[in-house]
Amino acid sequence: MHAELVCFESACRAAYPITEVIYNCPKCGGLLEASYDFSGYDAGALKRAWRERRMSNTPLDQSGVWRYREMFPFLDSLEHAVTLREGNTPLLDAPRAAGYGGLERLTFKHQGFNPTGSFKDNGMTAGAAQARRLGMKRVACVSTGNTSASMAAYASAGGLQPVIFIPHGNISYGKLAQALEYGAQTLQVEANFDQILKLVRVLAERLGIYLLNSINPFRIEGQKSIIIEMMDQLDWNPPDWIVVPGGNLGNVSAFGKALRELSSLGFIPRIPKLAVVQAEGAAPFHEFMRHPAADRFVPVDHPATLATAIKIGDPVSWPKAWSEITMSGGVVEKVSEQEIADAKAIVGLCGIGCEPASAATLAGIRKLTASRVMDADANVVAVLTGNVLKDPDYIYQYHTGKLQDPSGNVLQSTFGNRPAVVSNSADRIIALLG
Ligand code: F0G
Repeated sequence: MHAELVCFESACRAAYPITEVIYNCPKCGGLLEASYDFSGYDAGALKRAWRERRMSNTPLDQSGVWRYREMFPFLDSLEHAVTLREGNTPLLDAPRAAGYGGLERLTFKHQGFNPTGSFKDNGMTAGAAQARRLGMKRVACVSTGNTSASMAAYASAGGLQPVIFIPHGNISYGKLAQALEYGAQTLQVEANFDQILKLVRVLAERLGIYLLNSINPFRIEGQKSIIIEMMDQLDWNPPDWIVVPGGNLGNVSAFGKALRELSSLGFIPRIPKLAVVQAEGAAPFHEFMRHPAADRFVPVDHPATLATAIKIGDPVSWPKAWSEITMSGGVVEKVSEQEIADAKAIVGLCGIGCEPASAATLAGIRKLTASRVMDADANVVAVLTGNVLKDPDYIYQYHTGKLQDPSGNVLQSTFGNRPAVVSNSADRIIALLG
């Protein structure tokens, strides 16, 4: 299989060996993507082979990423792959959330069911495989928490040393705890995500550490499996919309690439519209998409949101995201802190639960149906990107009416569920419970 790295910029398209350690095009500075010669692919035969692998006890067949390995054939040998049985995440019907979002029905694809509790595992298993194939010893990332948790796990599982950089005081303890437990050398930097990404790129170059942020094209290859698995679970009948939160915009870029490839190879009859939802205080891409032009992307210098996973002001993958959203006929929406908090409580009341950034999807859907961009009878899949246990502080504060937005205003506990403190008395508790 011929695989190479190609510049994403249509005016450049320079190609490089798949084993080159580069994160931007050396010629024009554009983003890079993996490119393959898929000729000779038989969609029907592959669909059957992928179904059969679900029955297999072979570790890579059990992985909800590597099961679909024909769609990202960048490795020369599968022995480099590290799997924790990532992917295999469910599609869950959520009638109550559908009603809240103004839809007749709504399905969540819950990436929080992954081994480290977020969609990052789909990409990290691929990125870690490439690091091993290249003979790297150390891997690094800057993270709002999930990437670092995931990278720490996959690096340690694969015999690599993880080094993580996080914005000091700005990630949830659940995520920080994971990175420590999985053995990452952890540096809490007094700067925001965007500033640290610039720093880490310099450090990776000078120290010869392999960078595993989503600017790494192999991360994107792995994250394509979220869409491939989703389509497989839908028996290859695409929904009308796929909704996803946007931070650094790697995930929507992966989704678009997967949809283009599946469509051109005849796996799916049409491409769903992609909707990205950002938090109001960290929404440079939403602003850009109102009047898109290559020279008009303006970063947000001081991004602010309680959904810390998407607290990013200068997303690196915006050119890819722009192209993929346009290709799909999709949209970008933004939502307030209150809207995120209330939508999150509704996801919880479905018995499903998710972390704050993930709930931006439902909040965005509610706005998109209200403005009639999305029809009430549309078939919608929203991707819940992280597990409910990632950020328990946020949950407790919301339900007890103490959650403050980044400006210090207390948010409404609209669907609050305050725990009651009671004395050790059967009579009193019976009186309380009626
Ligand atoms: N949802 C969650 C739970 C995330 O952790 C992230 C990104 C996103 C959505 C946004 O995805 O960046 O591909 O647009 N988290 C990164 C991290 C930045 O470091 O964990 P994106």
